[in-house]
Amino acid sequence: MHRVVCPGSYDPVTNGHLDIISRAARLHDEVIVAVLINIEKKGLFTVDERIDMLRRVTEDLPNVRVDKFHGLLVDYCREHEVTAIVKGLRAVSDFDYELQQAQLNYRMSGVETLFMATNPEHSFLSSSRVKEIAKYGGDVSGLAPDLIIELLAQRLKS
Ligand code: PNS
Repeated sequence: MHRVVCPGSYDPVTNGHLDIISRAARLHDEVIVAVLINIEKKGLFTVDERIDMLRRVTEDLPNVRVDKFHGLLVDYCREHEVTAIVKGLRAVSDFDYELQQAQLNYRMSGVETLFMATNPEHSFLSSSRVKEIAKYGGDVSGLAPDLIIELLAQRLKS
């Protein structure tokens, strides 16, 4: 059994995340999408709301499950027999940050990090940008699943 993890904040999930998750699901036996519980940073959506959204938009992917974690990602990997961390690389600007994390995670635990090149269609995409555009009434269609766009609009209205 080859189990990998796609970690992140997912506040909320975007089409860029979904692209990486679905491609990872084709390559590995099981993919855990692990949402970080970050007590220092309040998100637009609660962790449980993000998990619910992720479950709904990945329901067609039978080998994907969604979970949450706090503390070190490598501890989660050890506890859940995860072989590798899968990360999407959007652009060179992601590389320094991601490389350092990958090297530290490997040093701490021996857990590998596998980088997937983001589909160029999504290379400009991040949850923060989607939230910002939606907040000021911009068009976010195609940047996240329709369900997420609806929930985002509702949350920003309230
Ligand atoms: O979507 P994000 O916010 O860029 O995801 C970042 C995430 C969750 C992958 C990263 O912050 C993380 O792994 N946090 C857990 C804490 C940890 O293990 N820190 C050491 C990294 S070297």
